[in-house]
Amino acid sequence: MSSAHPSSPTATTGPVHVIGTGLLGASVGLALTRAGVAVSLADASPSQVALARDLGAGELGAGEDARIVVVAVPPDVTADVVVDALRAHPTAIVTDVASVKSVVLAELHAAVADGRLTPDDLTRYVGSHPMAGRERSGAAAADPDLFSGRPWVLVPHPTSDPGGVLAVRTLAVDLGGALVTLAAQEHDDAVAAVSHAPQVLSSLLAARLLDAPEQALALAGQGLRDVTRIAASDPRLWAAILVGNAGPVAHLLGQVRDELAELVTALEAAAEHGPLTPGAMAAASAAVSRGNQGVARIPGKHGGVRRSYAEVTVLVPDTPGSLGRLFAQVGELGVNIEDFAMEHAPQQKVGLATVSVLPEVAEELEAGLDARGWRVVRS
Ligand SMILES: NC(=O)c1ccc[n+]([C@@H]2O[C@H](COP(=O)([O-])OP(=O)(O)OC[C@H]3O[C@@H](n4cnc5c(N)ncnc54)[C@H](O)[C@@H]3O)[C@@H](O)[C@H]2O)c1
Repeated sequence: MSSAHPSSPTATTGPVHVIGTGLLGASVGLALTRAGVAVSLADASPSQVALARDLGAGELGAGEDARIVVVAVPPDVTADVVVDALRAHPTAIVTDVASVKSVVLAELHAAVADGRLTPDDLTRYVGSHPMAGRERSGAAAADPDLFSGRPWVLVPHPTSDPGGVLAVRTLAVDLGGALVTLAAQEHDDAVAAVSHAPQVLSSLLAARLLDAPEQALALAGQGLRDVTRIAASDPRLWAAILVGNAGPVAHLLGQVRDELAELVTALEAAAEHGPLTPGAMAAASAAVSRGNQGVARIPGKHGGVRRSYAEVTVLVPDTPGSLGRLFAQVGELGVNIEDFAMEHAPQQKVGLATVSVLPEVAEELEAGLDARGWRVVRS
């Protein structure tokens, strides 16, 4: 598990002004403040900005002397706030962290066209999008390590000032981001596939549970939890994201709709004529196999090449501190946890903890945990 080192040298030259101090903005403020950069905070909501200040994300202020302005407001108001920031801070570099990029850039060009911005103002804007977040919104969920090891997409436009691009690159690196540079449309197409369409499918699937009987819900296991985790996301934020990236998301969902229609037709035939109906098995198998091929293409942690890890599964008592003890003892055995999953059914006194480790240390870890009294589950 990784976390930014509090004493890492920071190259960002502040002061930095953060507008929008919810999850993303307060996380930026916390990380920069921890690194010793002066941060001022503003938000349309007085209570949000006060909470961010109280959590240590920076000081309240208008950021008059800011060198960099980070706009972290919902996507549907991002362009307007960026326009205001470019005008109010005539020498600062302005970046935003919105999850959609083409629509923001198009609105900024419109602001140049209607005279709210000059072409020179626009050179000080550099779009960006840290691919880091969580299901909860607001400063209360902020975390200075939110961006550590996560891709941070830099989206300069053709007239972005190279010095501004460098400043935003430096900021992203200081916050622990792994840099990727894309054009706005490339970014939007990519996030439609890896973030926006998955959000819709997770939400639609979770919505099917509304009518499920209690006895069905009681059987819910890790598979359902895995595919519905992000269904807890904020509807207001996500409505703005989906509408802001409507074209690429609609295109992908149309492809899903077509594949789904084929599978439904095959399953309806099997339901009517029996499971051995010609074509039914092939259609079901093709759907799952194509999924196997797709999931194998997801890179490993920190965006690197996907690696195969060995899984070591241990029975963990449902008592305070048990997981902490397990983690500590895995550490004492000199093993790094690459990934972790916990399966726990209500009313059970134990859970199944699965730690993913490098294959070469798995056997040694199992033996070490055996020796320390853990019940290791071997397949
Ligand atoms: N949540 C995620 O997982 C995630 C991940 C990456 C990027 N983003 C992007 O980051 C941005 C912020 O998302 P968040 O999750 O931090 O949302 P959030 O709801 O936690 O915070 C948004 C903040 O913006 C403030 N705000 C709204 N309108 C404003 C305005 N006109 N002026 C000043 N402040 C205003 C709100 O009061 C709120 O405090 C969005 O554009 C989103 O697309 C979110």
